[in-house]
Amino acid sequence: MGRTVGIGITGGIAAYKIAELVSKLKKNDIDVVVIMTEAATRFISPLTMRTLSGREVLTSLWETSQEWKVQHIGIAEELDLLVIAPATANFIAKMAYGLADDLLSTIVLANTAPVLVVPSMNTNMFLNPIVQDNMKKLQTFGYRFMDPETGMLACGVSGVGRLPEIDDIYLQIKNLLTPNQDLAGKKVMVNAGTTYEDIDPVRFIANRGTGKMGYCIAQEALNRGAEVILVSGKSHLVPPSGCKFVEVWGAEEMCEAMLCCQDDCDIIIGAAAVGDFRIAQMMEQKLKKDNDRSEPLIIELVGTTDILATLGEKKKPGQIMVGFAAETQNLMENANKKLHKKNLDFIVANDVTMEGAGFAVDTNIVTFIDRDGSVNSLPKMSKEDVATAIIDKVVALINYME
Ligand code: C5P
Repeated sequence: MGRTVGIGITGGIAAYKIAELVSKLKKNDIDVVVIMTEAATRFISPLTMRTLSGREVLTSLWETSQEWKVQHIGIAEELDLLVIAPATANFIAKMAYGLADDLLSTIVLANTAPVLVVPSMNTNMFLNPIVQDNMKKLQTFGYRFMDPETGMLACGVSGVGRLPEIDDIYLQIKNLLTPNQDLAGKKVMVNAGTTYEDIDPVRFIANRGTGKMGYCIAQEALNRGAEVILVSGKSHLVPPSGCKFVEVWGAEEMCEAMLCCQDDCDIIIGAAAVGDFRIAQMMEQKLKKDNDRSEPLIIELVGTTDILATLGEKKKPGQIMVGFAAETQNLMENANKKLHKKNLDFIVANDVTMEGAGFAVDTNIVTFIDRDGSVNSLPKMSKEDVATAIIDKVVALINYME
């Protein structure tokens, strides 16, 4: 069945690059309707887009439609996916506030198909908290975003804000149009982020985990049709829309939340950077700094419950469990021990001392280790791609068992 993608072009310099995207989509038999804002038409001619898409390019709310339907409603109904690329700060703000003062913003509101937003702008504009806030707001409504790339920008500075490669945008569009539903009917529980262990009513011990890896896994499982429970320590990230989100504080609370759901789950993936120690006796009052500072302050720590090992003991036949091993030394040996100790089906090992791997970065360098000892090392990848590789491996295991 033919698929139709709306390509909404807004007024950024990267608008000219979208000609290649339209051409690539058409060559791959995907129908394209191009909608341009007035500013976009200053960067690239609608004629170029009309020639490449083979369809009338829509630029104004006031053009008369050849069909009987009001134009913006008719177009919105036709779309299987709406892509906004490049998305300017201005247009992102308009979407976040539901404005409909031109044809494209009106189509965005009338549209019910998934929306993919591809921001591209000056680094300072992109990092501006107002823009970041608007993007987060749109994510809570299920809008998907592609991260801009870092490099030389048209304004002469180097930084984040470049439009991603056209091939990457194309791949993302293909994935969204034909989502692989190979986890349909499966229930997946993922844990993510760091846990917090209280010292006193205002202080805690945590670690550098941000939740990014686990949130990417939850998103990928959702994309592939699973029902997803995301159990997360406090994180600044927006949980993927459509998952059941359980926010927890400490390791013990995380463990309880997961034990409650374990029996219903087909797949459990432990991506959280769970704290290994908690305070033996949390202080009831805030510790005063006026204690004699020359004396070391001694706080006793005890181990937290190993969540995956606890769940591993109660693992149901056929239940798949995956864990991570973030190591700073003896990666393979340590990861292998954890795989068996926690009763996992495979473990995702990463050396967190390597550049581009581990906590608080957008990429990871991982090695999969199976129970039979086989090892598969992947190159440096975005955490989204690592999530895809993990879910691919889980699906392969399910197929092998069934
Ligand atoms: O033993 P280690 O903490 O290095 O193992 C890492 C793996 O175990 C991760 O998947 C992590 O989510 C999980 N873990 C856990 N409970 C802990 C510590 C780690 O489930 N207390």
